[in-house]
Amino acid sequence: MTHYDIHSIRADFPILKTKVNGHPLVYLDNGATTQKPQSVINAITDYYTQINSNVHRGVHHLSQLATDAYEVTRRKLSEFINATHDYEVILTNGTTHSINLVANCYGKQFVEAGDEIMISEMEHHSNIVPWQMLCEERGAKLRVIPITDTGELDMEAYRTMLNERVKLVAITYVSNTLGTLNPMQEIIKLAHGLDIPVLVDAAQAIQHLHIDVQALDVDFLAFSGHKMYGPTGVGVLYGKEKWLDRMPPYQGGGDMIKEVRFEKTTYNELPFKFEAGTPNIEAGICLGASVDYIKTIGLSQIALYEAELLKYATKVLSEIDQIRFIGTAKEKCSVISFLVNGAHPYDVGVILDKLGIAVRTGHHCTQPLMERFGILGTVRASIAMYNTKEDIDLLVEAVKKAASMLL
Ligand SMILES: Cc1ncc(COP(=O)(O)O)c(C=O)c1O
Repeated sequence: MTHYDIHSIRADFPILKTKVNGHPLVYLDNGATTQKPQSVINAITDYYTQINSNVHRGVHHLSQLATDAYEVTRRKLSEFINATHDYEVILTNGTTHSINLVANCYGKQFVEAGDEIMISEMEHHSNIVPWQMLCEERGAKLRVIPITDTGELDMEAYRTMLNERVKLVAITYVSNTLGTLNPMQEIIKLAHGLDIPVLVDAAQAIQHLHIDVQALDVDFLAFSGHKMYGPTGVGVLYGKEKWLDRMPPYQGGGDMIKEVRFEKTTYNELPFKFEAGTPNIEAGICLGASVDYIKTIGLSQIALYEAELLKYATKVLSEIDQIRFIGTAKEKCSVISFLVNGAHPYDVGVILDKLGIAVRTGHHCTQPLMERFGILGTVRASIAMYNTKEDIDLLVEAVKKAASMLL
């Protein structure tokens, strides 16, 4: 890890200097949202002080600057995931919006009564509810791939469940609750064997591992800006041109049209067909700055560093007697979920907060997964590029303290 300068990385994130309840902030809630580097914060100020204007509309100078900057972000995102064409990158307001877009537009075009949509037992509500709504509307069936006790997808079950009635497989790359890293290449290959397209929820993957949509051959990829060190209110739906072209628009309004007549409207080309109305211009532009930041540090360096930290955290936490891990898959990424046996996760979270440590407690928007494990929730620590072994040591001390107070 010679090139990974953790001190200078931490110095790039001003909020990490904050004190919480008199203690230095230990931020381990990165699965919920990540902190922002100064370059992203500066980009927001620069946008409003220098080029604020609407995009894709005006001929005037500022509007052109804003449009160019917005499109530069699309270019950067497209390169970041190695899309074949920039117009396969639709700017949405986040993962949830991206998945709902596919459920609505792909669903309208391709899903009929008796068809099946396949998800897994470890999905975030954002990758469950849109499909449930679609299935209800179309008379289709939602099929759920089970997971094992360690929190891995039951690949044998997946193989047997695949059939020609399945119209789409929608699966998370990394589980936000278990940290499981799913074998996406294999999942996609198996689905493609029956010509079934695959949507990958990359909300917890895009900031941790290199995703090449062409190498993966994924049909749709959804992720959020705010989980990759960028602003809230912006995200991405990548879709293969062959699908996006055949899907009807999501919402109607400005920008998504070619010509509007009362008798009939024709729609704009990709990507604008799916981008109705004024977008979150500031967030869109500044997401480009977060891509730049990640590239400066290097995703492979980040992945190595985080993997080492996750291994360390797992080891030192497992030395606490009362700890029970939820999610012990062989391949994991960033997330550790646990219970301090006998204590409510919320109570543990409150004590950790008193000691300056931010973790997430509860069901993590994965209630069916909690049901699968017969629990109400967990304590979740999720790692980002700026966390340190000292953060983990402080977490361990705080969990021990919580255990001594609560049990
Ligand atoms: C795996 C996963 N999918 C989807 C989402 C939803 O993301 P957003 O709220 O940014 O739309 C999250 C957020 O935590 C997530 O972890």
